[in-house]
Amino acid sequence: AIERTLSIIKPDATRRNLTGKIAAKFEEAGLRIVASKRIHLSPAQAGKFYEVHKDRPFYGELVEFMASEPVVVQVLEGENAIAKNREVMGATNPANADEGTIRKEFALSMGENSVHGSDAADTAKEEIAFFFSGLELVG
Ligand code: CMP
Repeated sequence: AIERTLSIIKPDATRRNLTGKIAAKFEEAGLRIVASKRIHLSPAQAGKFYEVHKDRPFYGELVEFMASEPVVVQVLEGENAIAKNREVMGATNPANADEGTIRKEFALSMGENSVHGSDAADTAKEEIAFFFSGLELVG
């Protein structure tokens, strides 16, 4: 089915001028960027976005990192977009990421791993609504 998923190009990647190279990977995989904006999250906003991880030991570091510099948030659309995006990103830990994936090519560490992608249909819906209004989604 045609799905939509939320992608974030993280501060380690925007800082290294990799926005275009990463967006190209999505497009080459057949995903369409139907919404896109560059924003600088406040710590409160980053904390809210990652609330599900609030009891994890890495939460503080994650929130600080995500609010450290701008990110690019995008909605990707396509056949099986959620799974396809996860495939293109590669494993969370770049040490385990397959050849050719974004994280293999660009990620610096488990924390500075260049991209975030929704992990399931329900979270995709929530995460898209967190950043975009219906008017901003132009399929
Ligand atoms: P992301 O897909 O954005 O979702 C949560 C993020 O927490 C994850 O990518 C990682 O960048 C970050 N993170 C940092 N440390 C860990 C860890 N030990 N386990 C899982 N995620 C971690």
